Amino acid sequence: MAVQISPSILSADFARLADEAARVENVADWLHVDVMDYHFVPNLTLGLPVVESLLKTTATPVDCHLMIKDPDRWAPDYAEAGAASVTIHAEAAKAAVRTLRAIRAAGARAGLALNPATAVEGYEDLLPEIDMMLVMTVEPGFGGQRFLDIVLPKLARARALIDKHGGEVWLQVDGGVSADTIERCAEAGADVFVAGNAVYGADDPARAVQELRTLAEQATPPRW
Ligand code: DX5
Ligand code: ZN
Repeated sequence: MAVQISPSILSADFARLADEAARVENVADWLHVDVMDYHFVPNLTLGLPVVESLLKTTATPVDCHLMIKDPDRWAPDYAEAGAASVTIHAEAAKAAVRTLRAIRAAGARAGLALNPATAVEGYEDLLPEIDMMLVMTVEPGFGGQRFLDIVLPKLARARALIDKHGGEVWLQVDGGVSADTIERCAEAGADVFVAGNAVYGADDPARAVQELRTLAEQATPPRW
């Protein structure tokens, strides 16, 4: 299982998104786009029109993380627009199975995100419906927050459940991921790493991606 790095443009310059995306092209595996609606989370970022424009400017696959109150209404549209991965929050979805299937039917990978206080065990039966589980290591809504290491045991439990079911679901971690924390995430079983501040707060974002990748690969458990 290969390590993948998904820089979050939440920490980039929103007035220059195309340029910011280009700074990690051919280095990052994904471009993580945080959609926030001011209702599910207290912050407001961008929506479908901006994602559509971004998709035209970058060759990097786009990983949309929908922190919105009504993902059932909006998630399929992001997949149809061309996002290669669309993640909805378990706490927000009212018809998670239907929405995850609609994302897949539109040709994208379907992701399910869990807030720090949401237990993973209740979602075991949904593993066949998803391509990625996202375990939040901060309360969603803002970049640059402190990593919540109390979530690490849940990350390890998520890895165990995924392995039990065949291991095809990717395990993404998002929030406070940096050179100081990425090894612990990898050791707990994460394989897709979102990093906002640690990439776009660096002088050289491409080099920051490579450094994070190296740290995660070195920490990857031998069973992989
Ligand atoms: C937070 C977002 C994250 C954010 C991470 O709600 O989901 O993707 O950009 O930023 P850092 O890596 O700075 O914590
Ligand atoms: Zn995110």
